[in-house]
Amino acid sequence: MFETSAASDKPDYDLLNKQLASILDGERALMTNAAQFSALIFNSISDLNWAGFYFCTEAKTATQEKPCDLLLGAFQGKVACVRIPLGRGVCGSAAQERKTFLVPDVHAFPGHIACDSASNSEIVIPVIKDGKLYGVLDIDSPRLARFSSDDQTGLETMLASFIAATDFSALPSI
Ligand code: SME
Repeated sequence: MFETSAASDKPDYDLLNKQLASILDGERALMTNAAQFSALIFNSISDLNWAGFYFCTEAKTATQEKPCDLLLGAFQGKVACVRIPLGRGVCGSAAQERKTFLVPDVHAFPGHIACDSASNSEIVIPVIKDGKLYGVLDIDSPRLARFSSDDQTGLETMLASFIAATDFSALPSI
C-alpha cells in the first residue's frame, strides 16, 4: 500500500482520485470501501475533526414522507450521533434535498446537530446511485469556512468514484 501524502490545506484532488482508484480496485464491499474512503479523506485534508458516512436505515417512526433515518456508518473522528432523521441538521437536510450543503459556519445553520463541539464548518454530500439516495458523506472542520468550492468539486468527484465502485444492494434507499 502506498504512503499517503501529508494532510494539505489545498489537497491535490487529481492525486487523491488516483489513490482512491487504487484503494477501491477490485473491491465492492460497502463498509470496507466506506472505511477506506473516510481514512483517505481524513488523513489527506488538513484541519478536519470528522469525516465519514451516514447510511439509510428503516426509520424508527416511518412515515410516507420520511421512510428512512440516517444511521452512522464508517468514519474517522470522535464518537458521533448515531441516528439522524431525514430533514434534521445538515446531514438530514442534504439527504432530503439531495444536494450538497456547504456550511461555512455551522452555528448559523438552523437545526445543526453538534456531535463534536469542535466543529465550526461542514460539507455534506448526498450518496446517490442510479437515482436512489443511500446516505450522505459528512466532513467537519474546526476552522470556519474550511471548505472551498474547489474542495466541493474535488470531494464530489471522489465520492462519485466511491459510489461507482461500491455495491449498495444491502442498503435500503429512497
Ligand atoms: N453536524 C451534523 C451531524 C453529524 S456530525 O457532525 C458527525 C448535522 O448537523 O447533520
